[in-house]
Amino acid sequence: MPDSAWTGCGVDLLFDGMTLDLPKWFDLHTHFRQGAALPAYVQAHRDMGCAGALAMPNTQPPVARVTGPNAETAWSIQSYRDELLAAGGSAFEQLIVPLYLTRQTTAEMIEQGAASGLLKACKYYPPHGTTNAEHGVPMNSLIGGDVLRAMERCGVVLCIHGEQHGLSGAEYLDAQHNAETTFYRERLPWLLDNHPNLRIVAEHITTRVAAEFVAAAPAHVGATITPQHLLFTLGHLIQGLKYHLYCLPVVKFEEDRAALRLAVSNPDQRKFFAGTDSAPHATKVTPCGCAAGCFTGGCAPQLYAMAFEESGISPLDGLGRDLFEHFLCRNGPAFYGFPASMERFQMERRTSQIQALATAAGPVTPLPTGLGMELTWSLVGQS
Ligand code: DOR
Ligand code: ZN
Repeated sequence: MPDSAWTGCGVDLLFDGMTLDLPKWFDLHTHFRQGAALPAYVQAHRDMGCAGALAMPNTQPPVARVTGPNAETAWSIQSYRDELLAAGGSAFEQLIVPLYLTRQTTAEMIEQGAASGLLKACKYYPPHGTTNAEHGVPMNSLIGGDVLRAMERCGVVLCIHGEQHGLSGAEYLDAQHNAETTFYRERLPWLLDNHPNLRIVAEHITTRVAAEFVAAAPAHVGATITPQHLLFTLGHLIQGLKYHLYCLPVVKFEEDRAALRLAVSNPDQRKFFAGTDSAPHATKVTPCGCAAGCFTGGCAPQLYAMAFEESGISPLDGLGRDLFEHFLCRNGPAFYGFPASMERFQMERRTSQIQALATAAGPVTPLPTGLGMELTWSLVGQS
């Protein structure tokens, strides 16, 4: 029997043991893109109880300066942020736009940007390693240099797409190693040795090696984990060539997924947090390949809840609820130094389906739709 009731968003909801009432959450790694489709992507995030986001700078052109008007070759954090705010992002409590690290990035940009309050984070892309990563500079050329030293001094976070660039074939991916494990084994220890105070977020980690590296690192090294990397392995992608599940870094093996699940199961570990890497592609496949990115706008909390359940953690029970709430709503804000949301949203352990998102760039297929998958959780309301 329900033991109480309340009203949220004009809907009467019942506490029936199947409903979860949480602070609104933060997506600390997402892609909102640019242009006419932007408002639809921002709205999809607001609709899923998202209180704020870190919006990645691999736009076209990239966000490679801190201030100034948009130019043909580079946008600025200031102007891209203004576009996001005008597209509905003003409803967010937090909106962080990192600076894309390119050959043009200077220590002066970092110092002035940090002093102005606009620059909170920089993004490392392995050159040509993923969507719009062609402006990236190799990690080797950054380590020990002025830009990372300035970031370290100013407390600017380094968001890392942790894959070794320039690998192909078996070096890129085989059963023993892959571009991510190589990067975490060979580059990250060197980075930490040279920049012991640099605040780092290992973005969208996919392997046991990366999860163990982050868990053993100092507290100022955290990591985001996507729903797809907690839910799926390479087998799910390959069987039927489910291209909506194709993202980078690609989903890995069972021992990797198990290590990510273990990372989010540890109540003493608050350094792993939500970052969906939701990456809309209106054109996902072409005659010669597939764009990397899973779109999870509108369905990320439901997918995370499913992933936690599959990890043996019930978001509805005492410890499980606490783990889920910290991962989704609290650990990320604590890492970035802003408060958790005072607003709430509600989810229910009830099946639901999600449709393609209509955007000005055409329909975009969310991951569960692309996989023909039913969600076992539903969004109920926001208050
Ligand atoms: O799968 C991905 N898609 N990985 C990335 O690193 C970039 C993203 C995108 O922008 O589409
Ligand atoms: Zn991303």
